[in-house]
Amino acid sequence: MFNLILFGPPGSGKGTQSERLIALYGLKHLSTGDILRAEIANKTSLGLEAKSLMDRGELVPDEVVIGMIRSALDNNPQAKGFLFDGFPRTKAQSEALDKLLAQRNEAINVVLALEVSEEELIKRLLNRGLTSGRTDDVNEGIIRARITEYHNKTSAVADHYRVFDKVVGVKGEGSVDEIFSALCEEIEKRKAA
Ligand code: AP5
Repeated sequence: MFNLILFGPPGSGKGTQSERLIALYGLKHLSTGDILRAEIANKTSLGLEAKSLMDRGELVPDEVVIGMIRSALDNNPQAKGFLFDGFPRTKAQSEALDKLLAQRNEAINVVLALEVSEEELIKRLLNRGLTSGRTDDVNEGIIRARITEYHNKTSAVADHYRVFDKVVGVKGEGSVDEIFSALCEEIEKRKAA
């Protein structure tokens, strides 16, 4: 199995690159943002609880997303590996993920951290907000709140995995093809190690 965290701030290209990486490496894509948006679309109680937080650019409680990931791991016993996108987002989520994987004799192989300037993140998300219908892309205030959550809570995820020498920074600006090649290069190195 090969388990990868695609890490980075909102708008850094995690979703865009995940689509290509799962196609090339045959990994199961687990995006907590996508799962939460599906819950909202289906008007479940979990979706209703998450919506107001997401609309404000705040994180959903740890126990909610950890439960979602636990179910996804249980439901995909045949997976060749997982690509985690937008999860973990706090130190507690990182520790929970490590435990869930260890129970399956698995671990995270690498954390690829996309590095993009704040100015570029805001430009990308405002631009996507013109057409995406995502309520958290509609104005700069909410986008900045998401970036603040990232600095306050999510950067701890990189600190957590850096201790185990699992974090590799990758420049997230440039063409989608260039960034994809850089990510693949790092994956190949870790696979060969
Ligand atoms: P989530 O859905 O995870 O959103 P996010 O992390 O804010 O990331 P985005 O989807 O906005 O950006 P991305 O990095 O995937 O970039 P993308 O490829 O889309 O989370 C949403 C919310 O859900 C959170 O705020 C929170 O409330 C909740 N949530 C989710 N997970 C949670 C968790 N684990 N714990 C607690 N709460 C959680 O690209 C963005 C734009 O840029 C696109 O338009 C794209 O076309 C464009 N783009 C991509 N690459 C390039 C490039 N190289 N050059 C130019 N444009 C590019």
